[in-house]
Amino acid sequence: MKRTFETARASGAADVAPADYLPRLSRTEFERVFRRRHPEFADLLYFDRDGADAALDRLAREHNEFETDAAGGRGRSYRLAQRATTARLTGIATLLEMVAGVADLRRLPPETSVLDVLGGDGLVSRALRVLAPELPRNPVLTSDVAGHMVAGALGWGLAAIRQAADFLFLREASFHGVLIAYGSHHVGGTDRAAMCAEAFRVLRPGGRIVLHDFEEGSPAARWFHEVVHRRAAAGHAYRHYTRGELYRLLREAGFTEITVTEIYDPIRMSGASRSEAVGALLRYLTAMYGLRSGTGEPATDRAELLDWLERNMRYDYRSVPGHAAHWCSTLTVSDTPDGAVAELPRLALVATGVRG
Ligand SMILES: C[S@@+](CC[C@H](N)C(=O)[O-])C[C@H]1O[C@@H](n2cnc3c(N)ncnc32)[C@H](O)[C@@H]1O
Repeated sequence: MKRTFETARASGAADVAPADYLPRLSRTEFERVFRRRHPEFADLLYFDRDGADAALDRLAREHNEFETDAAGGRGRSYRLAQRATTARLTGIATLLEMVAGVADLRRLPPETSVLDVLGGDGLVSRALRVLAPELPRNPVLTSDVAGHMVAGALGWGLAAIRQAADFLFLREASFHGVLIAYGSHHVGGTDRAAMCAEAFRVLRPGGRIVLHDFEEGSPAARWFHEVVHRRAAAGHAYRHYTRGELYRLLREAGFTEITVTEIYDPIRMSGASRSEAVGALLRYLTAMYGLRSGTGEPATDRAELLDWLERNMRYDYRSVPGHAAHWCSTLTVSDTPDGAVAELPRLALVATGVRG
């Protein structure tokens, strides 16, 4: 069978054993097809940089929980959950505006290029299609360490590359923006500095980094420690970030004009009724985080999850600069013309910096 991005995606959905670069796709085949399909990014590829062979070996050997659902993984169920492209649209829109330096994504300059370092199967890129459907081209290059994630993104027709955050197969001064979001805590302590140094290297002078995570001790970080770590097969023993660490990482990588702020980053799911909207939110969280049954009884699991969210995901925005009246303080269910929407509030911590 001819190997294409589509067959790679189909096989990714079936959780095949990974080939050396992508599931059923070698690095050479990937590069050939990528250059043809995504010529706007083709000249940025840099697979012959010093150290690339060792980095490719590492990719072939190491596989994280986002590949498949086998052996305690949650990759396949995570990708199924991300078919709900608009669930995290509010936060994604804010992050894209920050990284591109625009107030309205529909006015994005056509030459803009953004690297989404922890891009998964391209949720941010797909969300941009919803936010600014009339853009003549999609400026996002999706990137991820997990081969099945990258195969998924390519299967959506997106430009995507498999690489680790701390060693990018991309040339110096290539991008206007680098986004590192929704998973920065998965990058280990010692790799965080290398990740920021790589972001700095591939940014053009004047380009901006946006580094997003949840603050240690915040309700969202406690969700990971108290719920995901206990109920996901792979656990979730990752350290989140502090403001000081974010600031230091960007400063030591060479960035200037550094800011550390909070953004409203809720999860919203809709349904035909209030209870269906809440059910959709709980199913989304269960699939995305690979939560296993705590009690063996689905109704009890759902009730316990809902109870935890209602008691713990609570925010007081009075000290947050720029907070808006529409931000929910607790899990809120509201009626809409089509039914109802359930909104789970989260505050995320975001650092930005400029490559001078
Ligand atoms: C929580 S997912 C987020 C995916 C996507 N941005 C989204 O919001 O749906 C985190 C992603 O980071 C990737 N990842 C984890 N560690 C990484 C690393 N060191 N380098 C590159 N990607 C990494 C994982 O494979 C996973 O796809």
